[in-house]
Amino acid sequence: MSANAQTAILFVCLGNICRSPLAEGVFRAVAVERGHGARFLIDSAGTGGWHAGEPPDPRSIAVAARHGIDISKQRARKVTAADYARFGILVGMDASTVSILTARAPSGAGARLAHFLECAGLGRRDVPDPYYGGPEGFEAVYRMIRDASEALLARLCARDASAPSGQASSTT
Ligand code: 4NP
Repeated sequence: MSANAQTAILFVCLGNICRSPLAEGVFRAVAVERGHGARFLIDSAGTGGWHAGEPPDPRSIAVAARHGIDISKQRARKVTAADYARFGILVGMDASTVSILTARAPSGAGARLAHFLECAGLGRRDVPDPYYGGPEGFEAVYRMIRDASEALLARLCARDASAPSGQASSTT
């Protein structure tokens, strides 16, 4: 990323109502807190479209609100072929999501496909699906997403700082 360019990141899970809306809200909040809000275009989507048009799960809205982040205005949507061109990085919450994104990638798609915790340097651990569990699962997912967002932001900013000025850097 050159000094003025934006990095476009799409966070992806299965339903786009529990994990990826939290990742969208938390990563955006962390970027703003660290003074890098303008450097990122951030969105989220699901590999499935069952919840398209719906707000995030009330338990995700609640855990985000407890940490001072409002994700209530988000609406779920399904990943589209255009997302592979619009976003530089599609970040899957778990290995299954990354496999689905890989299988559906249009030929010649430019986007990098990444596993969230792995690309944050936290090991290839999945962000578990909290949908069928209790509220404590949402707090644990929030914590993982917070840690991964801080680590990923630091990595992306370090990469940008070391890139030659005026020249786009690789996302690999
Ligand atoms: P998410 O969680 O992928 O983190 O949004 C889920 C939400 C809904 C369903 C599964 C997972 N569902 O089966 O409807």
